[in-house]
Amino acid sequence: MAENDLDAAMIDRALMTTRGVRRRLDLEREVDDQVLLDCIDVAEQAPTGGNNGSRRWIIIRDQATKDRFQELYLEAGASWVIEAADRIEGTDHPNASMMQGAKRLAENIDQVPAIVILTVIGEHDGSGRPGLFDSVIQAGWSFQVALRARGLGTVWTSMYLNKAAEVAELLDIPDGLTQVCMFPVAYTIGTDFSPTKRRLAAREITYFDRFGRTIGGRRTQPASMANMHGVAVEVDIKAHPSKVWKYVSDINLPARFSGEFVGADWDDPGADVGVGSTFIGHNDHSAIGQWDVDVTVTHYEEEQRFGWRTGGDENPGALWRFELEYIPGGTRLRYLLQIGPGRSGLNQAIDAMPDKEPRIIARRQSEHMANMRAVIAGIKDLAEAGGS
Ligand SMILES: Cc1cc2nc3c(=O)[nH]c(=O)nc-3n(C[C@H](O)[C@H](O)[C@H](O)COP(=O)(O)O)c2cc1C
Repeated sequence: MAENDLDAAMIDRALMTTRGVRRRLDLEREVDDQVLLDCIDVAEQAPTGGNNGSRRWIIIRDQATKDRFQELYLEAGASWVIEAADRIEGTDHPNASMMQGAKRLAENIDQVPAIVILTVIGEHDGSGRPGLFDSVIQAGWSFQVALRARGLGTVWTSMYLNKAAEVAELLDIPDGLTQVCMFPVAYTIGTDFSPTKRRLAAREITYFDRFGRTIGGRRTQPASMANMHGVAVEVDIKAHPSKVWKYVSDINLPARFSGEFVGADWDDPGADVGVGSTFIGHNDHSAIGQWDVDVTVTHYEEEQRFGWRTGGDENPGALWRFELEYIPGGTRLRYLLQIGPGRSGLNQAIDAMPDKEPRIIARRQSEHMANMRAVIAGIKDLAEAGGS
């Protein structure tokens, strides 16, 4: 291992436990200006395009200014947040807890020891490039981590920007600067923060060489049956997960859109479906011909996950999975495939040309991707139209 003067475990811990803090801000404890300036010095080490330091920070300390800022924050949307938080309190709404925190912040923003506003000189040119923002956001995050390292906390907020012009007037921010976010800063009540659960792991959102190509095995290269390379496709659907689930859980539906899968039959057609249920899938491919596969359900969680494997338990030929995620206004549908490690139709070609295994798999990934994209596009059309 290369020499390194840093403690990776400690740095990873700081990065992973710098949480959005709203309910554990200590409103009673003073925050010294110097500690804020120290954190800004740390943050200013973050990179900028062309090495031009164009960030400007404003710290609100004056009580009357905080009071006015709170009025603007409420008008900018926080009043709605308070109402919505009350409406969903105690329900199983996925954002119920987060909204309680946002409500608490809105109610107490005038009591926070320091309100820090991050700005950057310039205005976005609308070119579609990140422009401007890619020289400022990394400093905002460094500021949050530097606070965490000193026992302080904050949360990145941008809702107040609905009243950016009024805030600019309040704080004498000149034209030509862009406000990026507001950090309410305080010492935290306790410092025991934990990493949060993120829904998707790196393997599921990281693609190799082509968008959508995943790896499932421990070794990454070359592409081989043993290394379980795969495919992930996804689409956002303007329909509730319950509606999308109806299509996703129908094993015959993909046949309407796939160029290869032609249908399936449950082994026990009358039985309830669950993990361990089995069916036979029928396929037809211009080069491979027709073939059937034995399939076993591996995941079955209504409105969330439907997965199955082909072939044996220990050594599946492939793993397939639909994942549904609730997002505001609908559902994000992911369709995932992992090829191997067991034998499947692909092995005929690989046995004949073993040195071409990576190429054969890559070609197969492209074919699968086209079919899987067609399937999720079909589900989107059906769910959004409400058809059957
Ligand atoms: C761009 C951006 C804007 C945000 N705006 C607000 C906001 O206006 N009000 C608020 O209370 N939280 C805001 N947040 C905080 C997120 O809600 C918070 O990061 C999220 O709940 C996840 O919590 P975590 O940071 O602990 O992972 C914002 C976060 C980001 C990245």
